[in-house]
Amino acid sequence: MGETRHVPVMVEEVLGFLAPRPGGRYLDLTFGGGGHAREVLAREPRCQVVGVDRDGSTLAAAARELAQFGARLSTVQSRFDQAAVAAAASGLGSFDDAFDGVLADLGLSSLQLDDPERGLSFERDAVLDMRMDRGVGETAAGFLGRVSEQELADLLFRLGDESRARAIARAIVERRRHAPVRRTLELADLVVRATGGRLQGRIHPATRTFQALRMAVNDEIGCLERVLSQAPRWLKAGGALVVIAFHSGEDRVVKRSLRAAADAGVLELVTRKVVEPGAAEVATNPRSRSAKLRAARRVGGEPAARRTGAMTDERDETNG
Ligand SMILES: C[S@@+](CC[C@H](N)C(=O)[O-])C[C@H]1O[C@@H](n2cnc3c(N)ncnc32)[C@H](O)[C@@H]1O
Repeated sequence: MGETRHVPVMVEEVLGFLAPRPGGRYLDLTFGGGGHAREVLAREPRCQVVGVDRDGSTLAAAARELAQFGARLSTVQSRFDQAAVAAAASGLGSFDDAFDGVLADLGLSSLQLDDPERGLSFERDAVLDMRMDRGVGETAAGFLGRVSEQELADLLFRLGDESRARAIARAIVERRRHAPVRRTLELADLVVRATGGRLQGRIHPATRTFQALRMAVNDEIGCLERVLSQAPRWLKAGGALVVIAFHSGEDRVVKRSLRAAADAGVLELVTRKVVEPGAAEVATNPRSRSAKLRAARRVGGEPAARRTGAMTDERDETNG
C-alpha cells in the first residue's frame, strides 16, 4: 500500500446535500479511505454511517482508522450493486427506506492507484491486474488475452475517449500473437509506440487506455447503472442521493438515471445542472478537477438539505 492518503473531494458540497442530522443514518457506497464518512460522522455526533466498498483491504484499513466512531460505523465488503443483499446477510437489516442520505463517490481512491501491486498505474511496473476487489473476476491481463480487436477498439473509444483506439487495439492484438501482455509497463510501452508517443494535451499517452481498461475489468458502468436503479428506494422520504462521477460516460449515466427516477415521481432533482469543485479545491487537490456532482431527493417529507437552495444557486454550474 502506498503512502498517500485519499483526500475526499467536494466535502462541503456533500455535507450540504446530505445535511447529517441527529439520529440520521447514512449509506456511503464507496467508503474508500473513509474520508467522506469521517466528515459525516464528525459533523453530526449522533448519526450513523454504513460504509460499503468492493475492495476488502482498503475497507478494512480505513475502518481501522475510523475506529474512534465505534458502533456508529458499520462496514460491508461488497460491490455496491449487491450491497443490499450483502448487508442483509451480515445482519444490518433491509436497505429499503432505511437511509437519510446515500453517497457514491465513484472511481478509484489514491490508496488503490498508489498500490504498486494492483497494476493501475502506467508509471510503475506491476502485474496488469486492475481489479478493485482482487481475487474476484478476470484480470486486465486475462481480458487483453482474449478480447477481440474490434471490442477492444470500441471500449478504448467509449470508456477512454481515446482517438487512437484502433491503432492501440491493433498493436495489442498483434503483440499477443508472440507473447501475452502481462505487465503495466509493457502495455504503456505498446501504447506509446502505437500512438507515436504524442502527448494528448498534458496527459501521458497511456492514460486513456489504462482508464478504459480499468473501467471494463471492473464493469464500472454496469455496476453504476444497477445501483442507481436501486438506491432511490433505499432512501427515506426527503433523503438525499449524492453521486460524484469523474468520467463523462459515468456522469451521463447518473444524469439519465436521476432524471428517469424524477420522471417516475420517485426522486426530485436537487441539482438541475452538474456541480463542479471550486477553483480553490482544484488548486489544492488536482484529482478533484474532473469531479461532477449531482444530487436528488426522495419525494415526500421535508427536504434533507438545509442549504440546498443556496448551494445550487451559488455554485458555478456547467455542462448541463
Ligand atoms: C473515489 S474512492 C472513494 C473515496 C471516499 N469517498 C473517501 O473519501 O475516502 C472510490 C471507492 O469506491 C470503491 N468502488 C468503486 N466501484 C465500486 C463498486 N461498484 N462497488 C463498491 N465499491 C466500489 C473503490 O474500491 C474505491 O475504494
